[in-house]
Amino acid sequence: MSTSTVRGASQRPPRLRFSHFGLSVQDIDAMERFYSDVMGFTVTDRGQALGFDLVFLSRNPDDHHQIVLATGKPANIPPNTVNPIFGPAINQISFWMDGLSELRLLHGKLLDAGVKPITPIDHGLAWSLYFPDPEGNNLEAFVDPPWYIAAPRATARIRTGGPRSRPRWRRAPPA
Ligand SMILES: [Fe+2]
Repeated sequence: MSTSTVRGASQRPPRLRFSHFGLSVQDIDAMERFYSDVMGFTVTDRGQALGFDLVFLSRNPDDHHQIVLATGKPANIPPNTVNPIFGPAINQISFWMDGLSELRLLHGKLLDAGVKPITPIDHGLAWSLYFPDPEGNNLEAFVDPPWYIAAPRATARIRTGGPRSRPRWRRAPPA
């Protein structure tokens, strides 16, 4: 009898599914406003525990929280050494969008909120906008196109006709 059998474990991985993530924050009020007003999350609870101020947010009635904001983030965390758009520890937190019209709606909200930079990238298997939250965590909002294209692939796209025009995307010139 193997050791794993004695311990009651099998060879298969345990059943789990992703639930939520927690962000350490400096300005919990600004972060709550962004995730509520721009990203559309609902504050489901708030309080103190273990020395933290905590805010719980969700966009799914079946999940008490999908995001936890917790105080205690140290100042002056250095940037990512390869590309400063991507975070030093969290490379990206990504959200499915329910079609291009929803992605455009979010884009308008990001512009209204003064979020910069907003970086559109065509991954082939995802049409994405990357943008920072108020504390520089890199977020991605993306649409699944109806086909598969092997990853990784990243083609920068730029918007033609000005920031408020009807979005028409064309391939960006080489940097
Ligand atoms: Fe992504």
